[in-house]
Amino acid sequence: MTVDLTIKNCKLWYKKKTLVFGVAIDDGKIVSISKDIRLPKSDENINCRGKIVLPGLIDAHVHFREPGFTWKEDWSTGSKAAAHGGITHVMDMPNTDPSTITVRNLLDKKELAKKSVVNFGLYAEVVKENIDSIKELANHSVAFKVYMSESTGGLKLDDNTLLMKAFYNISKTNKVVCVHAENQAINERCLKRYRKSSDPLEFSLSRPVESEILAIKDAIETARRTEAKLHVCHVTTKEGLNLIKKAKKDVDITCETCPQYLFMTQNDLRDKGTLAKTNPPLRTKEDQIALWKRISNGTIDIIASDHAPHTMQEKLQDMWIAPAGVPGVETTLQLMLNAVNKRMIKLERLVGLMHDNPVKRFGLTNYGIEVGKDANLTVIDLKKEWKISNDDLLTKCKWSPYDGWKGKGCPEITIVNGQRLNL
Ligand code: DOR
Ligand code: ZN
Ligand code: ZN
Repeated sequence: MTVDLTIKNCKLWYKKKTLVFGVAIDDGKIVSISKDIRLPKSDENINCRGKIVLPGLIDAHVHFREPGFTWKEDWSTGSKAAAHGGITHVMDMPNTDPSTITVRNLLDKKELAKKSVVNFGLYAEVVKENIDSIKELANHSVAFKVYMSESTGGLKLDDNTLLMKAFYNISKTNKVVCVHAENQAINERCLKRYRKSSDPLEFSLSRPVESEILAIKDAIETARRTEAKLHVCHVTTKEGLNLIKKAKKDVDITCETCPQYLFMTQNDLRDKGTLAKTNPPLRTKEDQIALWKRISNGTIDIIASDHAPHTMQEKLQDMWIAPAGVPGVETTLQLMLNAVNKRMIKLERLVGLMHDNPVKRFGLTNYGIEVGKDANLTVIDLKKEWKISNDDLLTKCKWSPYDGWKGKGCPEITIVNGQRLNL
């Protein structure tokens, strides 16, 4: 038998360790995993030169902006940026224009997303108007998203009675409800108080820790009562993590954090200004330390980028006008591999956070390095040094808050459904 592709001379991430095994791929699927010498003949071979081959990594939180905001990003540029960053599967957030709140919206976005060079899933957003259509929406979405407070896009569900109804209806599907956990009333009150200030640090106070904490509390209580599967997006606070840790005893709950909260603090708001403006905002060093601790002890289940591209021109407006969000799908893995090299996290844990846990939580099928699964692979070079430069990025917005940062450990080759992507 001659297969389409073999990948040899690898350190293959297999059953939680690296083995000197190769992989044979045919028709987009893994057909053999064994010593190189025992692999079948192939039309094409990739020599990995001793690099580590991981299962294709997942980014469970991106904003690819199409339809509606394609000057910031689109499915072609966003997915190429993802693949460039070693990501083989993205889950796209609903706050496009239109938002994905109807089956029609989801089907239309699915059509546009055919341009994607990586695999994808789409979130459906829950708002007051579609709470009774949740069952139908579940057939076309990977998970549900609820904005408990207003952010980019402007839609929200900030009424606890409606939240209960939404969670209840979602609990009858097999889908997870993901929440943007900030409290609208607290944000509104604090925004009034701070918005006259010209100190960038005050942006963090305008969406304070209390806002995240109260929203997480409400979401947990609602999930407890409705038995909904809850995922808390982009957790930034020590207290929020404590609540989630406790809730894990009796609520089906997972949570995520993002590189911006792991590698930047509110001091970066002072240095980078609006380029570091995100919702929720960057927090203190103390919160950052808590995040790293909760990564090691397992409270944090997933690392996702919350890739939220805006143009440089949009970002360089007044602190209170500039849109919130930073690009990240392209840089998450290299930042995390640098952390592996610095012994801040083990590679095994990273594979859990960026592959095993998202696969399990969102029921992604056919992922993993096993015979019969789709051939999605991320080859990394742990020893290669890097410097992030805006000029090298494939995201349409062409900037990164980490421009100029240096480190070690890079994605090297991305294989999606058996195809090596040349970017
Ligand atoms: O910073 C953010 N940007 N937070 C969000 O909730 C939305 C996102 C975006 O879409 O720009
Ligand atoms: Zn969010
Ligand atoms: Zn987001």
